Amino acid sequence: MTNEEIIERAKKKLLLNYKQQPIALVKGEGVYVWDADGKRYLDLLGGIATCALGHCHPQVTAAAKAQLDQLWHCSNVFYSEPQVALAEKLTAASGLPNARAFFCNSGAEANEALIKLARRAQKDRGQSGRYEILTFENSFHGRTLATLTATGQPKYQAGFEPLPEGFRHLPYGDLAAVKAAISSKTAAILVEPIQGEGGVRPAPQGFLKALRALCDEHRLLLLIDEVQTGLGRTGKPFAYQHEGVLPDAFSLAKALGNGLPIGAMVSSEEASKALPSGTHGSTFGGNLVTAAAANVAFALCTEPQTMEQNVALGRYAHELVHALQQKKPDVVKEFRGRGLLFGIELASGAADVVARCRQNGLLVNLAGEKTVRFAPPYIVTREQLAEGLSIFERSL
Ligand SMILES: Cc1ncc(COP(=O)(O)O)c(C=O)c1O
Repeated sequence: MTNEEIIERAKKKLLLNYKQQPIALVKGEGVYVWDADGKRYLDLLGGIATCALGHCHPQVTAAAKAQLDQLWHCSNVFYSEPQVALAEKLTAASGLPNARAFFCNSGAEANEALIKLARRAQKDRGQSGRYEILTFENSFHGRTLATLTATGQPKYQAGFEPLPEGFRHLPYGDLAAVKAAISSKTAAILVEPIQGEGGVRPAPQGFLKALRALCDEHRLLLLIDEVQTGLGRTGKPFAYQHEGVLPDAFSLAKALGNGLPIGAMVSSEEASKALPSGTHGSTFGGNLVTAAAANVAFALCTEPQTMEQNVALGRYAHELVHALQQKKPDVVKEFRGRGLLFGIELASGAADVVARCRQNGLLVNLAGEKTVRFAPPYIVTREQLAEGLSIFERSL
């Protein structure tokens, strides 16, 4: 079957909710994928920060296959060892005191868990009027009703009104605005360490720390969305660790299963008390197969050497883009990011550049209006990064 045949069928029968690039992918290995016509692409997007170890990583694949032969699913009315092992790893790496983990299937669900946790935590303290969650303009937290309302981008909300109550969006990085917005209704602050979908925008230095201090002062929960930034991509297991702060709870998904659907919420012991037996759950959350894969993915993604290399590769990409910027200052406006999550802001035409990159054999995508996003697998080499950026240059 060719690209064209698959796309024609898709256009007739799939909900037309996505803006797909016009190729159908059929095979992946390491940093490469192939489309149905046999064309090979250098994949520096990795399923949007998801296939962090590259496609079909042999150890992750072996773990999932072994589990497939043993037991797929047993429901969360029973215990299962892969889930426990993963919880042990995540909580230990988190640095949160006596942390606990909850498993779900996606980033949006992990953020839903954060929102529910914050509301109930305030109720348990006798603060039932505190239900409002402060989030940020340009953020992205998911597509469920609550998480799209938390998302600070009106385009994701249009047409879905009435939206759930209790979310306020503030300018990202603007501490004075946060201080002014805190009221007797505020329950928590929800923040991305780097706004991914919003155009790969890191929080200003010190912002998370200042939010932590405000949360302590007003007895609010600090909730950090690590869905895109987690799992070693920025050089630490979780990006909040660059600032030496601890959230009350944080969310994960994307790279956790290296492409198998799994999400997680990790919370401090204190915060976790807000969701006792019967208050939250998921049929598939922490399923044995996804958890088995995630145990291996997490261990490999957070090896110190790998995380150091991610930082070095990110620096190298920055150097290459800097050189390009010198050559084309009217076209290439800014490099932003950390480690292996970076964006290149263009003066205009970013969507066309993404399309030309694909035609030239490179997969990247658009984040925000003008930014081309790169989220390469951690196994990418310097040569492959240089090749990708040279295809990018040719595509400008
Ligand atoms: C920061 C962040 N939070 C949440 C989500 C939603 O994750 P999912 O699509 O798995 O629901 C995303 C997805 O891009 C994200 O980047």
